[in-house]
Amino acid sequence: MMKKMLLMLTCLLALGLLTTTGQATPKTAANKAFDCRRTLDSKCEVCHYKTRICNQLGRKSLNKWRATIKRMVRHGAIIGKKEAEALAQCLDKSRPGADICLVTPTPAK
Ligand code: HEC
Repeated sequence: MMKKMLLMLTCLLALGLLTTTGQATPKTAANKAFDCRRTLDSKCEVCHYKTRICNQLGRKSLNKWRATIKRMVRHGAIIGKKEAEALAQCLDKSRPGADICLVTPTPAK
């Protein structure tokens, strides 16, 4: 639990650094504020590693992704409707090895 929190904190710090150095995160046309990788890191990796999601890239239809995210919400995932839809679309478009699957470096312990 503590480890996960540290990981999330590091993600937030890393994102802060990226934004201050001017490396803007990619934006989708549908929702300018939506960042797929960040959503995966903050909303999905709470319970399991992204690999569990990334293993399924290219194997689910858009509707299957929507259903999966709904099931995750029943498991306890906290994600808004718009964000869930944007994430479903992003996962549907993404293929194995996509950038969104890159693992954010963990701090030295
Ligand atoms: C509250 C805990 C929790 C959160 C948060 C969570 N999951 Fe899961 N996830 C699970 C559990 C438990 C399983 C295994 C049981 C199952 O598949 O329903 C799972 C399994 C999966 C699987 C593998 C099974 C399949 O249907 O392919 C995928 C993909 C997945 N989650 C995607 C996501 C995504 C995307 C998010 C972020 C929106 C997310 N999860 C957030 C608990 C969670």
